[in-house]
Amino acid sequence: MYLLGIDVGTSGTKTVLFSEKGQALASYTGEYPLYQPQNGWAEQDPEDWWKAAADGIRAVLSAVPEAKKEKIAIGLSGQMHGLVMLDKEERLLRRSIIWCDQRTAEEVEQMKKVVGEKRLIEISANPAMTGFTAAKILWVQNHQPDIYSRCAHILLPKDYIRFRLTGEFATEVSDASGMQLMDVKNRSWSSELLTAFNIDRGVLGKMYESPELTGTVHETAANETGLPKGSPVAAGAGDNPAAAIGTGIVRQGRAFNTIGTSAVIYAVTDELRLDMQGRIHSLCASVPGKWTLMSCTQSAGLSLRWLRDTCCGEEIEQAKRENTDPYVIMTRLAEDVPVGADRLLFLPYLMGERSPHPDPLCRSAFVGLSARHGRAHLIRAVMEGVAFSQRECLDVFREMGVDVDCMTVCGGGGKSPLWRQMLADVYNCPVNTLKVDEGGALGAALLAGVGAGAYKSVEEACDAVVQYNEPQNPSPNVNAYESYYQLYKKLYPTLKPIFAELASL
Ligand code: XUL
Repeated sequence: MYLLGIDVGTSGTKTVLFSEKGQALASYTGEYPLYQPQNGWAEQDPEDWWKAAADGIRAVLSAVPEAKKEKIAIGLSGQMHGLVMLDKEERLLRRSIIWCDQRTAEEVEQMKKVVGEKRLIEISANPAMTGFTAAKILWVQNHQPDIYSRCAHILLPKDYIRFRLTGEFATEVSDASGMQLMDVKNRSWSSELLTAFNIDRGVLGKMYESPELTGTVHETAANETGLPKGSPVAAGAGDNPAAAIGTGIVRQGRAFNTIGTSAVIYAVTDELRLDMQGRIHSLCASVPGKWTLMSCTQSAGLSLRWLRDTCCGEEIEQAKRENTDPYVIMTRLAEDVPVGADRLLFLPYLMGERSPHPDPLCRSAFVGLSARHGRAHLIRAVMEGVAFSQRECLDVFREMGVDVDCMTVCGGGGKSPLWRQMLADVYNCPVNTLKVDEGGALGAALLAGVGAGAYKSVEEACDAVVQYNEPQNPSPNVNAYESYYQLYKKLYPTLKPIFAELASL
C-alpha cells in the first residue's frame, strides 16, 4: 500500500507520496495567491487549492508510476478555520475567507451576546475568535445575505478537496473544532450553537474521527488526477493536528512547537481541559478519544523576516556572495551578542496577537534601545522575543497541568541551532527535532494508513515511522533568560492601553 498526504497550506498545497513505512517518495507543492481586498481581509480561491492538489497528485504519481498498481490511501490536512460555501448545484458561492482574516470584530461581539462568553467556552472550548469559522459565517449572513440565502454546503479547506475527490460532504473532529460550532466535549455539532447562530445543520458535513475513511475517489476525480478510481480517502485533520501525527505527538507529556510565519505549541491531553480565560485553544485531537491544547501566535518567523527585509540588506548581499541563506548570516551575528541582547527586549506583535493575549490592536516594540545597539542586537532581541512569546503560551499549558518533558521544534525557525537553544533555555526543557520533517502531509498520510488498515492505531503508526534527532538540553543560561523573561511579561499589560490609543488615532 502507498500513502498519499495532501496538505492545503496558505502559500501552497503540498502533496507527498509515502511508502507504507512513511518514507517520502515524491513531493510536489503548487502555489497560489492570497487575496487581501481590504486591510485585515484574507481570501483564497478554493478552485486554486483543487488545481494545486490535482497537479500535485499527477506529479507524484508520474514520479512513482508503480504506485498505481497498488492500493493508494489518501489523507487530507489543511489550513484551519477557512470558510468555503457552495450552492445546491455544488458551485462555489464566493472566495474562501481564510484563517488569518480579521474582518469579524462585530460578529465576535454578536456571538458573545447571543450565547454568552462563558457558555461559548463551555460548549466550543474557545472564546469567540475573529479567526474561527463561525464568525466568518455570521459575517456573510450580515453582509452578503443574498449569498448566504443560496448557501447549501459549508466546508473547511481540506474538506473541499475531499468533496472534489469523492463527492462527499464530510469533516472530522480536529478541524471542525476550529469552526466554533462543535460541542467539543462530545465531539459532535452543537445544536445550541447552530440555533444561536441561525445555521441549518443540513449545510454542515458528516462528522468523522480523523483516521476514519470518508469515501472513495470517483471517476471524474480519477480522470483529473490519475488516481485509481475507488482509492480510499481518510478524514484527515487540520494542519496542526495533522502535524501532531507527523511529529509523533499523540500522548500526554509531549508537545511540538512550530516556529513558522506564526508559531504554534500543541500538546495532547487525555481529557478535555478548558482555559476559561480563553488564552489558548482547546480542540478535539486527531487521535480518537483525546483532546489538545494549542497556542497560536501571529508573528514568529514573520518577525525575523520583517527585520531581514527592512534592515538586513547587507546580510542579504553577503548571503548571496557566500551562496547561503540570509538567516544563516543573521543568526551568526546574533550568536556574538550576550543573552538579553545587551538589555534589549522585543515584543513580536507585528500582526496583533492571539495567544495568550487575543488582541488585534497590540503591535510590536523594541524596549531598551540604545545608541550602542546594532543590527546584531536587534536580530538577537527578535529571536529572544519570539522565544519569550512562546514561553508565555507554555506557561498557560503548565498552569493547566500539561507540562512537557521534551519539546519537538519544527518549521523554518526550528532549523536554527541558536534559536533552538534559546527555546531550550527559556522553557528550561530539552528540545529535539525530527529526522524527517514532513509535518501535516505525513500526518495526513499516516491517518490514511490507519484508516486503510496498514496500522492498527495512530499511536502504532507514529511509533513505527516518526524518528527524532538527539535532544538539545538547557544550558547554564537558563537563569539569565529567566530574569529577562520576567521583565518581558510585564510589557504587554503595561503597553496594552497605549496600543489601543495608538490604534484609535
Ligand atoms: C491555527 C491556525 C493556523 C492555520 C494556518 O489555529 O489558525 O495555524 O491552521 O495554517
